[in-house]
Amino acid sequence: MTQAQIVQALATVLCYALMCGAIAWRHRQRQREAQRKVDALLPATPGAPAWWVTYASQTGQAEELALQTAQALHTAGVPVRLAPLSQIGLADLEKADRLLCIAATYGEGDPPDSAVPFARQVMAGEAVNLSHLHVGLLALGDQTYANYCGFGRALDGWLMDRGAQALFERIDVDKSDPLALQRWRQHLAHLAGTNDLPDWEAPALQAWRLQARVHLNPGSAGEPVCHLALAPEAGHALPAWQAGDLVQVEAPAAPGEPRDYSIASVPEDGALHLLVRQSRRTDGSPGVASGWLTQQADIGASVMLRVRAHSGFRIGDNANRPLILIGNGTGLAGLRGHMRARLAAAGALDTDVVRPEGVAPMWLLFGERNAHCDAHHRDEVDAWLRRGWLSRADWVFSRDQAERRYVQHALAESAGKVREWVEGGAAIYVCGSLEGMAGEVDQTLQAILGEEALQQLAADGRYRRDVY
Ligand SMILES: Cc1cc2nc3c(=O)[nH]c(=O)nc-3n(C[C@H](O)[C@H](O)[C@H](O)COP(=O)(O)OP(=O)(O)OC[C@H]3O[C@@H](n4cnc5c(N)ncnc54)[C@H](O)[C@@H]3O)c2cc1C
Ligand SMILES: Cc1cc2nc3c(=O)[nH]c(=O)nc-3n(C[C@H](O)[C@H](O)[C@H](O)COP(=O)(O)O)c2cc1C
Repeated sequence: MTQAQIVQALATVLCYALMCGAIAWRHRQRQREAQRKVDALLPATPGAPAWWVTYASQTGQAEELALQTAQALHTAGVPVRLAPLSQIGLADLEKADRLLCIAATYGEGDPPDSAVPFARQVMAGEAVNLSHLHVGLLALGDQTYANYCGFGRALDGWLMDRGAQALFERIDVDKSDPLALQRWRQHLAHLAGTNDLPDWEAPALQAWRLQARVHLNPGSAGEPVCHLALAPEAGHALPAWQAGDLVQVEAPAAPGEPRDYSIASVPEDGALHLLVRQSRRTDGSPGVASGWLTQQADIGASVMLRVRAHSGFRIGDNANRPLILIGNGTGLAGLRGHMRARLAAAGALDTDVVRPEGVAPMWLLFGERNAHCDAHHRDEVDAWLRRGWLSRADWVFSRDQAERRYVQHALAESAGKVREWVEGGAAIYVCGSLEGMAGEVDQTLQAILGEEALQQLAADGRYRRDVY
């Protein structure tokens, strides 16, 4: 090694150490900010009975509404405690007097990931008497699913069976219906004895500009997938977001009904990137939002969107852990966000820098149909492999051989390695289809690691999913 190379290597390590310090500091700042919000809600008089506000949320809407609920009650002088359902046990319910709960539904009427332990352990556990408990329940859902508000209903049924008393009839919210949310606010105002609750404003949509669109899979057996780049309209700054976050896009033909997309870039990229697959309706016409984004919208078109924090899929405390990144199709978006974030944190985005020793490695398992046209961003992934940021990339193409082969098969074949990585501290991130991928991957991970161990990883924030 020449002296110049040694100096360069030392400079890289120093730069990386400074970046890590800055990230850790920013992370602590955010944690303090979150703690301040919660502390501000604790009862002013210690010992005064607080109302519990709790939530079961996958992509953050229930969490946001719970925070607004808690803040509104606090402003009206009511002592409040705010916590995810995952942090509430039977002992808390036995002591509580009032419980306001906002619960979303996932899968096919299932609880959000973070509420699975509550459903399995508390709701399926011993019979308990909750006749002292007064409950208000807001169930979030979407009527297009067969099991509308399934988890909210199950939770409601469980509470009522145990004797809890409804403060008012459960409110079911179809796709953030503003009228249903208005009813919830009215009940809160009534309970808090005020008619003066502050307004809840949905974060405004902002105008962005479609800068570029690249068709990633010409010739594919699947529907077109496009990589989009968007920048705020002139005069507006790029907002801060973290890898794992989502955007909500409102297509001109669907006002008030935004669609979620996983962000595929980091703010250091200077633009917001999405991977959008054109969906097709049963009558053959393209999906409202994806059809517009991938086909109809001209380059330069104005796109109304908001960036949405997705705390369940962010890096959280996993910034220094090895990452196993598993996904399919447009699920590469959320995984790419995390890969780019790791490089950005080390100051190595769009450089030839090799992964420094102190940075934990990543392993990508990605599934699509055919290698010749569906290996999205293969050059980028290959470059990260060469430079050691990824220590392994398993491309799994379902239709390149006689037998169908998916990511869960590759995962099962590498069971020993998966165990080794997890024992070495790895976190697992899954992004893409709920149907056909995430469920199978979950089953496979259970078989490899054990059901309890996987549940513990989820509870520790080391198993995170952005699946749809
Ligand atoms: C957390 C999350 C993250 C996501 N991330 C991504 C991502 O990164 N990339 C991505 O491409 N997608 C992503 N999605 C999916 C995306 O939000 C949209 O659901 C998808 O683009 C389809 O929306 P659309 O408006 O194009 O289709 P819509 O017009 O809403 O149609 C969607 C489907 O509904 C059915 N349908 C609806 N209405 C009718 C009708 N009148 N007649 C017949 N059939 C109908 C059809 O099966 C159709 O395919 C994500 C979703 C979630 C929840
Ligand atoms: C993959 C997926 C599956 C869903 N399954 C259901 C369902 O079975 N029943 C239902 O009522 N809503 C379902 N929903 C809608 C969500 O419950 C609803 O969007 C809710 O507002 C999300 O809240 P959250 O952001 O707090 O997770 C589903 C949404 C997604 C993305």
